[in-house]
Amino acid sequence: MPISESLKKKAEEIVFRYPEDKRASALIPLLFEVQRELGWITPEAEEWVVETLGVTPVRVREVITFYSMMRAEPHGKFIIQFCENISCCLTGGEELQHHLEHKLGIHPGETTKDGLFTLKCVECLGGCSWGPMMLVNEDQYFQLTKERVDQVIDGLRSGTPVKADHPTPLLGNVAGEKV
Ligand code: FES
Repeated sequence: MPISESLKKKAEEIVFRYPEDKRASALIPLLFEVQRELGWITPEAEEWVVETLGVTPVRVREVITFYSMMRAEPHGKFIIQFCENISCCLTGGEELQHHLEHKLGIHPGETTKDGLFTLKCVECLGGCSWGPMMLVNEDQYFQLTKERVDQVIDGLRSGTPVKADHPTPLLGNVAGEKV
């Protein structure tokens, strides 16, 4: 997939925020922009980021593979990242994870046949005081119960997503609206 003119323009804006000798600092924001436009970071886009920032391929690869929010392969329309770390487990996360798997009919790492959901189980998502929690794309859902999980999944399936608990202001919500 070729890199669009709009993505090139956004890249210029992002790179411009950093001193010329610190262009590598634009790496994460630029990868997020690629992901937002293409849905995932394709091998071609990865190469383009290397050239654009003048960094080594391994520098880009290590960032993509380190952060669970980076997507290096095709996936469902909604990526569910479910926290399997200790604080969330202690508040019922483990049982809830099984409920979610059953609801979706898939295991972690898999995508539903209709291409809507990809499930990932990840380490701490930074909301330990409000567990169990999950992210759907860039939206956060806290203090989950089976009923709340069902509401979220059913809402996404029917095209009427329920409101996230704390949409991430810079990234927009599930429906792609800026908040
Ligand atoms: S342990 Fe689940 S968000 Fe931190």
